[in-house]
Order: sequence, then structure tokens, then C-alpha cells
Amino acid sequence: MRRAYGLDLNSYKENQLRRRLTGYLARQNLPGFAALFARLQSERKAYEDFLDFLTINVSEFFRDPARWVELQKQILPELLDGKQTLKIWSAACSNGAEAYSLAIILKELTPSRRHHLLATDIDKNILEQARQGVYNADAVRHVSPERLSRFFERAGNSFIIKEEIKKMVAFRQHDLLIQPFESGYDLILCRNVSIYFTRAAQDQLNSKLAQSLTKGGFLFVGGSEMIFNYKELGLERVKTNFYKKIKDFQEVRK
Ligand SMILES: C[S@@+](CC[C@H](N)C(=O)[O-])C[C@H]1O[C@@H](n2cnc3c(N)ncnc32)[C@H](O)[C@@H]1O
Repeated sequence: MRRAYGLDLNSYKENQLRRRLTGYLARQNLPGFAALFARLQSERKAYEDFLDFLTINVSEFFRDPARWVELQKQILPELLDGKQTLKIWSAACSNGAEAYSLAIILKELTPSRRHHLLATDIDKNILEQARQGVYNADAVRHVSPERLSRFFERAGNSFIIKEEIKKMVAFRQHDLLIQPFESGYDLILCRNVSIYFTRAAQDQLNSKLAQSLTKGGFLFVGGSEMIFNYKELGLERVKTNFYKKIKDFQEVRK
């Protein structure tokens, strides 16, 4: 898979991955992994569907609401105090709910400023959904009634994110395990994806994320994700799930 598709399955936790892969074989009526590989090679789009099944895309707006209040009340005001334009990355963004949540807050805090908001995921199909910006009631359960009416349009049971928010986010495919990272980010959200990775892959990811941040920038991780060696990476733990970059790589090594 690595050679044919650049997919690093070794970096995912083995038991979990095996369960999902076996589930996929059963669902597709395939006798084994060799048959699966042959199917992927022979059918166009089969790889994308496979990846779509393999990845767990659960997401929602303002996931862990208390953390988002801290982001809005403390972290973002601190960043916006020092800079006119922020460079932000929602890594492993899934259906875009996370990136759009951030765009909503930025629109409220700085209505007339433009920021760079990149959102990436390995899964092309979920990125297409993210670009469409159509959500069910579950995904917006933490969105206040005021925000719902200001930033969403209603179509039957669906909630569609309005164009003014949609156009603030650029979506792009990116694999956190094998592709290079850009640098100079003021804020990176990388939430609820490292939980699927092995410890070695988590360590490597955290180190690359820390290097991608600008000094004074923040990393926002998922509810159960902890960075144990944050000091070695030049980070400071400022609040639950928030780390601030206080030292450059060169300063840490001194
Ligand atoms: C559970 S969702 C998290 C979504 C969002 N960050 C949140 O916290 O609600 C995990 C996402 O990670 C993506 N993912 C899995 N492996 C990845 C990789 N190697 N590189 C980039 N994204 C990956 C999946 O496609 C999925 O959309």
C-alpha cells in the first residue's frame, strides 16, 4: 500500500486497523487482503472508497465546547493583538465542521480582517463534503441559535454553511504521515486524529507540528490527546488541550 499509494498503514494502531480492514473485506465480499489489493488496482475510485471507509470521519461544530470558549476568549484575542492576519491550519479537518467553527469565531472577532485558513485531510471524499458544507442536526448541536440563524441556511433537515464563512476556508488533500508541512502557522488545530496513530507516529507528528508553528503560536489538540514531551519540542502547556510554542528548535537544542 505504501509503494502503490503512498499510504503508511504501519503508523496506525494495529488492532483498530485490523478490525476495520476485516470489516471492509466482509462488506466487499472479498476473501482476503490480496483480493482487496487486486480490486484497488483494477478499479478506478476503489482506492478512494477504501480510504473513505478506513478513516473515521466523526466531527461536529465546536467539538468540546468549553475548549472553543477558551479559544475565542483567550487564545485568539492574544494572537489577534499581535497580528493583523493570522495563518491557521485545521489538520485532519474531516467534514470541515472544525474549520468552519473557527471561521465563524474569526468573523465575529474581526469582521473586516482576512485570515489564511487552510483545512486538510487525507480523505478526498470527506473533503468534497466539507466544500459543500451541508450538515445534519447532530453536527450543529453545539451551535447557538444566534449563530445558526446568522451563519447557516436551512434546507429541510439540513444546515448549510453560508457563503461568507465558506469562502474563508481553503480545503486541500494532505497526509499527515508522509507529506511535508508548511511553516509559520499562528494556530494549528490537530484534533482527534493522532489517537489512531502508533506512539512513534504520534511523536513524529507532534514534532513536525511544533516546527510548523511560529514562535508565540498555539497548537490545539483533541480531548484525549496529550503531548508528554512538550518541553523538548519548545512548547508550553497553557491550558487543557492547548500548547504554546515558546522556543524555536535551535533554542531547545542549546
Ligand atoms: C475523527 S476525524 C477528526 C476531525 C476533526 N479534527 C475533529 O476533531 O472533529 C479524523 C480525521 O483524520 C483523517 N485522517 C486519518 N489519517 C490521516 C492522515 N494520515 N493524514 C491526514 N488526515 C488523516 C480522517 O480522514 C478523518 O477525517
